[in-house]
This record gives sequence, C-alpha cells and structure tokens, in this order.
Amino acid sequence: MRNIQLINRMTEYYTGDPKRIQHFIKVYELSKIIGQQEGLDDTTQYILETAAIVHDIGIKAAEEKYGDCNGKLQEKEGPAIAEKMLSELGYEENIIKRVSYLVGHHHTYTDIDGKDYQILIEADFLVNLYEDGESKKSAETVLNKIFKTKAGQKLLINMYGLQ
Ligand SMILES: [Fe+2]
Repeated sequence: MRNIQLINRMTEYYTGDPKRIQHFIKVYELSKIIGQQEGLDDTTQYILETAAIVHDIGIKAAEEKYGDCNGKLQEKEGPAIAEKMLSELGYEENIIKRVSYLVGHHHTYTDIDGKDYQILIEADFLVNLYEDGESKKSAETVLNKIFKTKAGQKLLINMYGLQ
C-alpha cells in the first residue's frame, strides 16, 4: 500500500514527463516479476520494489544542477532526495538505508552485493535496451556481462530472441 503512495508521489515528481513515468513503472514491474521468481525474502523483495520506483529520482536534480544527467551524477544526487521522500511517507529506517544505497549505485556494475541490487540492474537494462533502441548484439553483450538471475536472463533472451 505504501508503495502505491510512493508511485503516486513519483508520478507527481515527474509530472509532464511521460517517458520517465513509464520508465520507472516498467522497471518496477520487471523487478517485481524477477524478484518473485528468484525467491527473495519478503524484506528484500520490498526493498527491491521500493528501490525500483525511486531508482532514477536523481535525474531531475542532476539536470537542474549540472545540465547533465549521466549515471554518476544521478547516483550522487539521488540518495538524499529518495531518503526525504521515503521518510515523509513513513518507511522504516532499514528500508530507507538500503534503498538509498541502491539509488546511489544503480549505474555501478562492480561489487554488486545482493540480489536486490542485481535484479534492479537487470530490470533497468531490460527497459533501457528497448527504450534506447539497442541492437540484438548489444542485448547479447549485456546478457553475458551483466545478467545473473535465471528469471532476468530468460526475459532478456525472449525479448531479443537470443540463443
Ligand atoms: Fe532507470
């Protein structure tokens, strides 16, 4: 229920920007679907879904401050804004802490330290590859280099007709 409020808040936050609204909703749904098949415990699943909703929250601030929204700037700006929104909605401290960490690392593909982190990255790639019109070849490279979960691999293989 709290995540529905969060989805509404994020929709307001990105008002006038349908691409970003559709982006985070897709990343959220794919994260949810992958997490459910990978047998996450309830807390990790909740953290994953929450992080997926707010993962790109730093984009706006990065654009406003630097006129650029590359991955590193998003990671820098995102955590504080996410923490504020989550505390306003009454999320528990341990959830906020991990979600904030994930927001601050979702463009970093080294030292992935948990299934929540791994799945968030996979879901974001599934959506970004498509939204950026990437080739089958790029999808294959990402599959080999980044994807680790069975459910994520299966989604990517089927989307691009790989193997
Ligand atoms: Fe994203």
